[in-house]
Order: sequence, then structure tokens, then C-alpha cells
Amino acid sequence: MRPSREISDLTVLLRKYNSQYYTENASDITDAEYDALMNRLLYLEREYPELRSDDSPTARVGSAPLASFAAVTHDPPMLSLSNLFSREDFLAFHSRITSQLGADQVEYSVEPKLDGVSLSLVYENSVLVRAGTRGDGIRGEDVTENARTIRSIPLKLNSDHPVNVEIRGEVFFMTKDFLQMNGRRTEAGEAPFANPRNATSGSLRQLDSAVTAGRPLSFIAYAPGYVPAGIDSQEGLFNRLQQWGFSVNSRNSICRTPEQVIQTYHKLVDAREDLPMEIDGMVIKLNSFSRREMIGFISRAPRWAAAWKFHAEEMTTTLTEIEVQVGRTGRLTPVARLDPVKVGGVVVTSATLHNQDEISRKDARAGDIVLVRRAGDVIPEVVKSLSPEDGVRGELFKMPDKCPVCSGPVVQPEGEVNLYCINPSCEARIRRSLEHWASRKALDIEGLGKKLCEQLVDAGMVISIADLYNLKYHELTALERMGELKATKLFAELKKSRKTSLSRFLTGLGIPGVGEVASRDIAGEFRDLEALGAATEEELTAVKGIGPITAVSVRNFFTNPVTAAVVGELKAAGFNPTEKTAREGTSLAGETIVFTGALEMPRLKAKQLAMAAGAKVTSSITGKTTLLVAGENAGSKLKKAENSGVKVVSEEEFLVKVKEE
Ligand code: IVH
Repeated sequence: MRPSREISDLTVLLRKYNSQYYTENASDITDAEYDALMNRLLYLEREYPELRSDDSPTARVGSAPLASFAAVTHDPPMLSLSNLFSREDFLAFHSRITSQLGADQVEYSVEPKLDGVSLSLVYENSVLVRAGTRGDGIRGEDVTENARTIRSIPLKLNSDHPVNVEIRGEVFFMTKDFLQMNGRRTEAGEAPFANPRNATSGSLRQLDSAVTAGRPLSFIAYAPGYVPAGIDSQEGLFNRLQQWGFSVNSRNSICRTPEQVIQTYHKLVDAREDLPMEIDGMVIKLNSFSRREMIGFISRAPRWAAAWKFHAEEMTTTLTEIEVQVGRTGRLTPVARLDPVKVGGVVVTSATLHNQDEISRKDARAGDIVLVRRAGDVIPEVVKSLSPEDGVRGELFKMPDKCPVCSGPVVQPEGEVNLYCINPSCEARIRRSLEHWASRKALDIEGLGKKLCEQLVDAGMVISIADLYNLKYHELTALERMGELKATKLFAELKKSRKTSLSRFLTGLGIPGVGEVASRDIAGEFRDLEALGAATEEELTAVKGIGPITAVSVRNFFTNPVTAAVVGELKAAGFNPTEKTAREGTSLAGETIVFTGALEMPRLKAKQLAMAAGAKVTSSITGKTTLLVAGENAGSKLKKAENSGVKVVSEEEFLVKVKEE
């Protein structure tokens, strides 16, 4: 067969199988057969380079590495967008637009602002001939070979007649693709990417396009270079883009009133965590292209569009002071006091600095300007100091050599970076133990919060958790802010808490190394306090999930006279905790999970855990959903799950299941 004929036959076949595979998720041939066809085409194109077309299917697998990127010039320049941060900002934007147009009514195209990398695609006679990064907006890098490997970028436009056009849009990772890729990297011993955005920019700027081909990038189109003839609105553009073969965001919408725009913003904020990709705001554009021309541009941004940004998760503020807190186990934690700053929509006034090593590494000192991060709902942390190293600065911080609360000695166990107060009657430690005992994951004693724990310890009424069960009514009502009603309720709660399970009881004791998960493991095995108290180190180590260090820790707790006495007093106070059922089936394989509400851990982390345990994660409840993990303030999805009989668990229960894997 003539090579030109064979190349065109192979091209037709491979196009057919590509489209089967990527749009219909099916294939008439095996992977090996596909590879054979592809390899044959690669071979022929190498032999007869003059026969290779720009939209050949081989472009999807990458081509020979480049020595450097050529430059591309953007005409018109790739602009940026001015930012809006509030409803007021948006209303000001809207009133400027209406008054400039002299119109009461305007239509906006409202689009999620993808957090990726923008890309320009030039099509000549309907064929992709050049792809360029934004660069400084005027000059960028030519990444054509890399762009050709991205499946959702059409190599040739679907069209009745040839089209010359430039299309701009965003390259990004779908969250699931990003997670899968990171999973594979970890398995292969490679470093995972920090976040989808970094991974996108790194993957797109590869001199070897075969590397890019191995990264599952996506592309969504949202703007033209110069507006092509026959299109007069953003809505029209999106229709045409789809006809040509581009993907557009399914969450794009047209808003006809400012109220609709504001409503869309709130909807998007709510849906943010559940979207299949990361977004950092919402883009608002005048829908009509002729109206855009009437409004015009300022230097680098159009005046007819703006980005309404979501709350940033990193902000800078002043670190006013470093304070050392003492926890339940005696651990000393340095905490940065901050000038109040809004991070991720929440006012933050303090952030953890972890330990001395971390403080030294970040070189954070009182008076410094620091970068603070709050990802998802985790405890805020100081990322780094932004103060110049050689500027005038406060003293280097050093952890104290005495407990800041009881002035007792502190020790640093071998091989650990943390310091511990070892005085068992340190007031800070007792207060924290009480708070822990009463917390939701342990005995769940309503009304016994931080304030009351502090009052009880300060008044000398409680020096161990067992003392809670010897409190007298008249002692309690003598406390400030403690009325009869409150005291009565608290007594009822304390009484109820005696009926707890062995796992909660164990969690509440706060044995070093024994959190909620280990408590369930242990309780599921020994079933009652008697058996647990008698358990040997060997028996404890034999429990799935329990290592030798934890086993020793448990054994010590039940044999050390001080801690054993507390258990004895609790028994005397009426505790006889047992565990009813052994642990249930553990694997998440076959489960289809939906997350909703605010979780303690970042949503991305939760999804990662679920997937690692073999589950599928989806964003909405369907007939296939088997499990809903509901965080705080779960709303409509929780209702839907309950109505349709889908099993609902808390984040804690979910964690237990994952850990059991
Ligand atoms: S329109 C003149 N639409 O946001 C119009 N941009 O600061 C300029 N972006 O560099 C861009 N989603 O990377 C537009 N639906 C969207 C977008 C979007 C994300 C990014 C883009 C651009 C930046 C503007």
C-alpha cells in the first residue's frame, strides 16, 4: 500500500477508536491492537515526515523533545481581570456598567473561574497550528506539541468549511485525575504534586511532550482572540465552541439581573467543594459583544468583565506574640498570636507553630509579617515569615525549659521534637483531660465545656476525671454562672455518661497513642474493662492496628498506680463499660461515597482516603450511592440520603472505616 494511503487509513481508524474511547468510554479493539496501530502510524510519519499532518492522532502521544520553547505573540493581548471581593464590589461594578451603557438591564455570562493555566489555541483552516501560554499577556511560550496531547483540545474543528480562529481557555486537572495521578506517582516512588494548579503549569511546560501526554490534563474554552464573524454574544460563543468540538463549563449561566448574579455566587460557593475541579472565583462578563465594545478596556483588563474572587486560603498578617500552650498529654505547643485576619472566610487570631524545629525553620518571630494558611477546616498554621532576614527584628524564639503553667520540669523524649510537662497535677493538663473526657468523640457530656472545666479545676473541686462523679450539687451551684437548672442538667448528663461504651471510655481516658480509632480496635477485641485491664502486652499487640508502643502505653496505664486508681474510682462511681458488637466489615471497596457539609479535614484529603480504600467518590446522590459522609451543617444532600435510605455516617465513623483498611 502507498504510505500516504496507509497513513490516511490509520488516521481514520485511530480517530474512530479515540472518539469511542474518550467520548463513549468503550472500544471495539484491545489496548494492544490500538498500540499496534498507533506505533505503525508513528513509524510511517517518522519515515515520511512530509506526510505528517498537524492534526494526526499521533500528536496525542507527544513528539520529540524540544531544546527550548519558542515565543508566541498574542494579538490581541491576553488580558487579566479586575477583582471583586464582595457583594458591594459587584454592585458598584454593575452600576458603572449600566450607567456607561445608559441601560437599565444588562445580561451577564457568569462562569466558574477555573484555577489552572490559561492557553491560546490558534486554528488555521480548522487545524490546530499553535498553542501558547499567556506569559506576560503579550508574549508567551509555544507549547503546541504539549497542547496536542490534551484530549479535550480538538486537533481539528468540526466545521462545514475551514475556519481561522483563536480560542482561549483554561488547562487544568479534574480533581479525580489529579488524585489518581498523584496516587500513581506515590506508588512509583515519585514525589506527589502539591496542588492541581502547580501540577498543571509544570505539566504544560515540559520540553518533552511525551511527559505531558502522560498527564491527564483537561481544557475548557471560554474566550475568542478576535471575535469570529457571526457570533454576537458569549452565549452564542459557547454554542459555537461546542459545535466545533470544545468542552465548555456546564456551570456557565446567563444572569439577567444583579440579584441572579449574587444568587449564582452563593450557589457556587456552596457547590465549590463538590465541583469536579478547583475554582477560585466566578467570572462575570457582559453577554453582548457589541455592548463590550461600548465599554472598552483599561490598560490590562477589560472593563466589561470582572472576577468575583472566593476567599483566599492564605493571607498575611502580623505575628504579635508566641505563646506556649500545654496539652492533655503535657505536650508544649507554641502558638502564634496574630493580628486578626480573614483567611478562607473565617477570622483567624492564632495559628499553630507546631514545635521548636518548625519555628526555627520558618524563622518566625514576634513582630514579623507572616503568611497564614487555613486549608479546608483544619487548624490554621503559620507557613513562613515574610520579614527580611537582615531587617530589624524581634528575638529568636526559644521554647521554655519549665512548664509555663505549673513551672514543673519539661522533658524531651529521645528522638522526639516535642517537649512535655511531666507533672501529672499540672493544672493545664487536668483542664485539658477534663475537656477531652467530655468531648463529643469521648463521653459527650453536654454542658461541660472549656469554661466549666477551667472553673472546676481553678476552684480545686476536680483534680482527676473521676472527681466529676463525686461533685456535690451545692458545690456546683456555688460556682459563678451556674444556676440550678444548669447544675441539674449537668448531673443528668454525668449520670447518663456512666452508660458509655468501652471504646468511648477508652478514648476519654486519653492514653498516649490511643485515639478514637485505636480505642475501637481495642474495645472490639476485649469487650469489657475486666478483660482489658488484664490484657498482656502480647495480647494487645495481637490486635489488628495496635503496635508495640501503643500496647506498652495501654499496659502502663492500667498498671501504673496513679492512672489505675482513676480507673478504679470510675468503676466505683458506677462505670462498667462494655462493647456490644465486634468491628463490622472493614473495606470500602464497592462503596460509592458522597461527602457533604463541613469536614474537619480538607475535602481533598477525605476523597483521597476514600479512594485509597477502594471506594468511588461522586458529588451527588444517585441510585448508586451507598454511603453519605456528613460533616457539620449538612443540608439538602443529607435529607436526600435519609429519604432514599442511603447510609449516613459522620466524619469520625468514616475515618474509622478508612483506618481499618
Ligand atoms: S476570561 C478578558 N473566563 O482567570 C477575559 N478567564 O484573571 C480574560 N480564568 O488568566 C479571561 N476561568 O486564566 C476568563 N471563565 C473564565 C475563566 C478565566 C478562569 C482565568 C484565566 C485568566 C484569569 C483572569
